[in-house]
Amino acid sequence: MGLNDLREPDVREPDVREPDVREMVAAELEAARQRSLRLLDPYEDAVLVGQHSSLMSPLVWDLAHVGNYEDLWLLRALGGQGVGSALDDTYDAFRHPRRDRRALALMAPAEARSYVACVRAQVLDRLASIDLDPGRPSGELLADAFVYRMVIQHEHQHDETMLATLQLVEDLPVRPAGRPERAAGCRAAAEILVDGGTFTMGTSAHPWALDNERPAHEVALPPYWIDTDPVTNRDWLEFMEAGGYSQPRWWAAEGWAWREEAALEHPQFWRPAGGSAWSRRRFGQQEDLPLDQPVVHVCWYEADAYARWRGRRLPTEAEWERAATWDSVSSTKRLWPWGIHDPTPDRANLGQEHGQPTPVGSHPTGASPCGAQQMIGDVWEWTASDFEPYPGFASFPYREYSEVFYGPGHKVLRGGSWATWPGAARPTFRNWDLPIRRQIFAGLRCARDA
Ligand code: AVJ
Ligand code: FE
Repeated sequence: MGLNDLREPDVREPDVREPDVREMVAAELEAARQRSLRLLDPYEDAVLVGQHSSLMSPLVWDLAHVGNYEDLWLLRALGGQGVGSALDDTYDAFRHPRRDRRALALMAPAEARSYVACVRAQVLDRLASIDLDPGRPSGELLADAFVYRMVIQHEHQHDETMLATLQLVEDLPVRPAGRPERAAGCRAAAEILVDGGTFTMGTSAHPWALDNERPAHEVALPPYWIDTDPVTNRDWLEFMEAGGYSQPRWWAAEGWAWREEAALEHPQFWRPAGGSAWSRRRFGQQEDLPLDQPVVHVCWYEADAYARWRGRRLPTEAEWERAATWDSVSSTKRLWPWGIHDPTPDRANLGQEHGQPTPVGSHPTGASPCGAQQMIGDVWEWTASDFEPYPGFASFPYREYSEVFYGPGHKVLRGGSWATWPGAARPTFRNWDLPIRRQIFAGLRCARDA
């Protein structure tokens, strides 16, 4: 079954217009590579080859893996020879867990840089003459240039992963570039009533959508309340001061067991700073905790406990997506919460601009039809939902992208973080992780039944 075969004729979806796909693909490939290389550029080889956490790969593995993935999908899968399969075992994410990658015969950083450049040169060569005819049947790698979009997003996803790795380095010598934080918007926490009814979840039409976002389908929801803003560090301190981490009644049973085992008492990277003050380590440097920023580096179990303490719950991913996109006046789905325009720094904090989340209230022009803000960017938002296939899902182009992760083990995150590239963020995008993970740039917003 092809990607778009299940498109419902009555499902109204926004259009994404692109003047010249070949040019766009070449430019996006280049932008992704610039980002990867610039990200690693400030660091000596010792930082690049080190194992900074058992949860993460050495940075140089990520870089070479990005090149190997590109060789596999943009050269060999398209009928070429590529650079070759000799490196596939070392750089296949499914063959060696992250903690073991340090022990593999990895390329040195300089070697990895020339490897990715060599793959890229062949890819651009091939791209110049390849048939990107949009009339190809869906389900083919080249239909809508899908395989290129997948590889571009893959590189950006690994850039975000590398940022998470850098954040784990205790004595990181240099911070990744980032402009200063935005000024705090003045904002009183509020919640909005979202009306019930059916809406279109997922997409069959977005050319950048991956298999797990497809197909578009109708979902009926009862009305619910959702917070206008993500939960802030200030909110989180209230939870801590109220004994949130010491009272099992707020926690799910497995969450409490994990809290005890891992001795969780505050978000990752926080440190007491005397009296009731806290500081946090951000890319190797200690700084005052910015109270108005969305909380980040909390796991699903913590998010779930916080919401229960507040008398709320996490939104389901359907509730999240409806609140982010659904215009109930016209019964249409918006491409972005604010409409059809591309993200800009005033609308959403994406693309590593600030090196951190921005305070709540910083992006009023990015509000969704119902009035929720910062749904795109800043922090990934944990949802109540397990990662499961949509009705009519078909794996494409390979089972290990999404399908093998379906099931109750993984929770869905939505919206993208400050570290997500705009082209790898959209309201239908589904991220997932284990409920114990906190190294990702994840926070939450609350909801409750109406
Ligand atoms: C979608 C972020 C969960 O990092 O495991 C990277 C993306 N897939 N390489 C991950 C991905 C293959 C994936 N996440
Ligand atoms: Fe990967």
